[in-house]
Amino acid sequence: MSSLLVDDIGELVTNVAGAGEGGPLGIRRRVALLVEEGRVAWIGPSRDAPAADRRIDAGGAAVLPGFVDSHAHLVFAGDRAAEFAARMAGEPYTGGGIRTTVGATRAASDEELRATVRRLRAEAMRQGSTTMEIKSGYGLTVADEARSLRIAAEVSTETTFLGAHVVPAEYADRPDDYVGLVCGPMLAAAAPYARWVDVFCERGAFDADHTRAILTCGQAAGLGVRVHANQLGPGPGVRLGVELGAASVDHCTHLDDADVDVLAGSPTVATLLPGAEFSTRSPYPDARRLLDAGVTVALATDCNPGSSYTSSMPFCIALAVREMRMTPAEAVWAATAGGARALRRDDIGVLTPGARADVVILDAPSHLHLAYRPGVPLIRQVLHNGVPQ
Ligand code: NIG
Ligand code: FE
Repeated sequence: MSSLLVDDIGELVTNVAGAGEGGPLGIRRRVALLVEEGRVAWIGPSRDAPAADRRIDAGGAAVLPGFVDSHAHLVFAGDRAAEFAARMAGEPYTGGGIRTTVGATRAASDEELRATVRRLRAEAMRQGSTTMEIKSGYGLTVADEARSLRIAAEVSTETTFLGAHVVPAEYADRPDDYVGLVCGPMLAAAAPYARWVDVFCERGAFDADHTRAILTCGQAAGLGVRVHANQLGPGPGVRLGVELGAASVDHCTHLDDADVDVLAGSPTVATLLPGAEFSTRSPYPDARRLLDAGVTVALATDCNPGSSYTSSMPFCIALAVREMRMTPAEAVWAATAGGARALRRDDIGVLTPGARADVVILDAPSHLHLAYRPGVPLIRQVLHNGVPQ
């Protein structure tokens, strides 16, 4: 059994509340962390560290759990840089460009899609994302949704069936028929490769009745529920998600008091995606209101070619702190433990004996630098399942 000691850690974010300073971050100082068989085996002062086969010297830097990016759309072809440029010149974001990407994705070969997924997954890993949820949703035929998830499942166990992303053009005048397809043959073909089901519940995409029907049939097929909710305007998505026991409702940009109350009284996580507001030049969600109401908040990238073409969790942390009035500690927690809650995982997002050894070593003395030094590549080294990347 080979072991690895990460030694001379200046600041260790454990996310075990009460294990140290910083409230929920459970910060321990001047410690070492032993990895055995892909798991954290021991944490303690360096002088007490057990012998190990290999040693990484953190040099007094900050070490934290790998980021858990619980919302990304990586299976697509082409890009929409021109649409982005038009938005920055004043055009609004409507979600209408999704159909452009659907056309490009259907025309792409498996190898092209696989290359994009692997490129973006590697790009995110270099920026500290040791877990990444990956959605389908740019195929929107039985075969294209199934292959999207098959390719996603090659690089992640956190795969999400988003056949209900938009109604594709060929079903534009018969959306009920499309919902029937999603709940029937498309779900049957996708479910073997998916852990979750998701719906874009929004005016112009899927209404409350369609969303309920699709999430319910996904649940009956054994999938967990998540929802794209209240992104472009107020709507029923958040309340419906909570009612159906969703692990997470995502975006949460336009919430009323009832939405916040319902979330606060539930185990459902509110996943905020500030890259989308950045890239669509839209008002950011009110993170303070959610946090002050006691809602569990996660941060994720929403990496996709339309509304948020970033794979960088450090960028999202910086945005959350500067633009959404989250404290650096709240943002770091939301990007690690919060993401783990949004995926109903207790083996990631924490560093404690028994947890998965998904570890980020920063080129900085403190987690504060992730927001304090925006745009600077601060990820020095990443361990995934204990293996240096
Ligand atoms: O989460 N809102 C729906 N889906 C994506 C955007 C997809 C696209 O524009 O291609 C999102 O923002
Ligand atoms: Fe999304």
